[in-house]
This record gives sequence, C-alpha cells and structure tokens, in this order.
Amino acid sequence: MSSLLLLNGPNLGILGRRQPEIYGTATLADIEAAVAARVADRGWKVVSIQRESEGELIHAIQDNYDSVGAIVNPGALMVAGWSLRDALASYPRPWIEVHLSNVWAREAFRHESVISPLAAGVIAGLGPLGYELAADALLRLAPES
Ligand code: DQA
Repeated sequence: MSSLLLLNGPNLGILGRRQPEIYGTATLADIEAAVAARVADRGWKVVSIQRESEGELIHAIQDNYDSVGAIVNPGALMVAGWSLRDALASYPRPWIEVHLSNVWAREAFRHESVISPLAAGVIAGLGPLGYELAADALLRLAPES
C-alpha cells in the first residue's frame, strides 16, 4: 500500500492546546484524520510522524523514501534547520511545506524558511485546511502512485 508521509516538527504534537488563538483548536489527530480521508480513495495510507528534535525528523525522512510524497510542517526549524533541509534535499518524492499560521504576518524571524526553496509548494495561514490542500496537491503531483 502506498503511503503519504505527514511530518510535523517541534511543538506541533500539542496542537489544540498550543496558543489556540494562533494555531486553532484542531489537534494533530484531527489533522491526521482529515489528511487520511483526503487520500483514502487513492488507497494511500498516512504515516504521521511528529518529533521534537531535528535528528529524529531526519531519521523519519530517511526511513520513508518509499512514500509517494510528504507534507512537512517544520515548525521553528524552518528558520535554521539546515540538517533538515539536507535530508529533504535527498527525499526523492514531491513534498509540500505547510504552516498553520501566516508566518509572514508574524514576527520577522518567521519570515525566512531554509526549506522553502526545495519544496514543491508552500501553504501558510489556512490552519488545518492547509494540510488537506497539500494532500490534494500531492494527489496531483504523484500521478503514478
Ligand atoms: C508554524 C509556524 C512556525 O513559525 C512556528 O515555529 C511553529 C508553527 C505554523 O504551523 O504556523 O511551530 O510552523
């Protein structure tokens, strides 16, 4: 069965409780279920991995080279996650960067992403819907799977 990698970085495991005024009330489990529903008709299963550390996220990428594509919310690692960037550079399938919040409407330090130049696309500011739209995009970008 083909799998879609859903990768979430630091502090995203506590969605629902984390600054809901910024990140909303949906939990990561809610997001996983919504993404799984989007890709179910295609026969894809979702492999969801959330880790607090960059090294563990890198292992998750390296362990899932056979996935059809990935949705990546790097959290604050967007700013300086150079090792994460290198890992994504070797990931052989299309992947999309997602941020729940509109990072460009926030503090200046969130305006840079070292991974964005490698992404097939970037979605920010749409909350959990961003993950679903990324799943829709991957359904189009991975036609052979
Ligand atoms: C985030 C935005 C980042 O700036 C922040 O560090 C996060 C969450 C988002 O989804 O909006 O952890 O990636």
